[in-house]
Amino acid sequence: MDHFQIRDGVLHAEDVPLTQIAEAVGTPVYVYSRATLERHARVYREGLSALDNPHIAFAVKSNPNLAVLRVLAYMGYGADVVSGGELTRALAAGMKPEDIVFSGVGKTHDELQQGLECGIGQFNIESEEEGYELAAIARRFGKTAACALRVNPDVDARTHEKISTGKRENKFGVPIDRAVEIYASLAGEDGLDMRGVAVHIGSQLADLEPLETAFGKVGQLIADLRAQGCKVTHADLGGGLGVPYKSGEEYPSPAAYGEMVARVSKGWDVRLMFEPGRVIAGNAGVLLTRVVRVKRGIERPFVVVDAAMNDLARPAMYGAWHDFEAVEPTGERMTAHIVGPICETGDTFAMDRECDALIAGELAVFRTAGAYGATMASSYNSRGFVAEVLVDGDRFATVADRIAAGAIMDAERVPEWLD
Ligand code: LLP
Repeated sequence: MDHFQIRDGVLHAEDVPLTQIAEAVGTPVYVYSRATLERHARVYREGLSALDNPHIAFAVKSNPNLAVLRVLAYMGYGADVVSGGELTRALAAGMKPEDIVFSGVGKTHDELQQGLECGIGQFNIESEEEGYELAAIARRFGKTAACALRVNPDVDARTHEKISTGKRENKFGVPIDRAVEIYASLAGEDGLDMRGVAVHIGSQLADLEPLETAFGKVGQLIADLRAQGCKVTHADLGGGLGVPYKSGEEYPSPAAYGEMVARVSKGWDVRLMFEPGRVIAGNAGVLLTRVVRVKRGIERPFVVVDAAMNDLARPAMYGAWHDFEAVEPTGERMTAHIVGPICETGDTFAMDRECDALIAGELAVFRTAGAYGATMASSYNSRGFVAEVLVDGDRFATVADRIAAGAIMDAERVPEWLD
């Protein structure tokens, strides 16, 4: 359920007509709904209500906008971060350091140090090499780093191969069959408090079965670790819950997910941790765009919009589907190719899409763009960075300015020896 609905013939974000936002901020622009974010955060938490005090850390990579993070901080969410930049954002948005989990396979020396200095709650260590490096830094600072060991359970998440992370050939975590040995060795390091295990097998999962298989392996690992005398007080089960991108699609609900987790984790005797991203932010945002022109094609027209693959990379990168709708639908329909202005064929949002009829100058949205949308933007074709707006009831604010191509160029210079 989201708060983007047609009222009096115009698509609104909560109580604000999208026409008004386009007028005030221009296009393309991401529009987020606070009420939708809050609803998703609440429904996810309620889904986990059978668990004892779960820790929920929003996956900042899915939507790192400061205002979005602030809304989630108010909802009691912590943050799952994967870079020093995300860590800085989470803190700036008001998330408590102890509620922050630092994941990622390539944390640099400086990033590990930054995490230690600001006292984050947990490092999810992705290799033994990283563990020893963190231990050495912690000793130098006279600190102890609370850690979970991320394991690779060798489970096929049955999602797009580029966002599948839990197969043995993927770069993430340590092989689960070496986890006891590595965990025990790291637990002997001064400077580390090895307290748990972590797993994340992929994103946009359409069914719960691969997750259940992976969690079953984690449960066995916890028992094996304890049998070896290791302490295990936490288990981080990652994110991954998919969302519907096509209207009418059904995905597992947070309630069904929570029921499965409660069943599988029974008797683990740990604090469970979660890192949801898409399920919170995905349907809480749209990308608002204006039709530049409708170009006659051979079999179908091309609807050329002013958003492009640099603003929303998912269709070009993963062949992803985003529903495309007119902001002021007339009831007339058309079948068209929906494309951006960038000079490559990959800048195609949809082929042969049956959609609302549109003409030049009209507004439209790509739906379900609140996660992995603006955060993956680039300035390809010197198009600048897309703006972001947050709506709250009948008010809205620009929460990220459009960064003009000229401002990006200002950071470049031609060395004098080229003169
Ligand atoms: N935890 C870890 C360690 C992750 O790597 C991810 C996502 C998450 C949590 C959050 O997963 P979620 O709940 O959002 O599925 N750019 C891609 C998605 C990449 C996901 C990367 N990791 C896309 O647009 O579909």
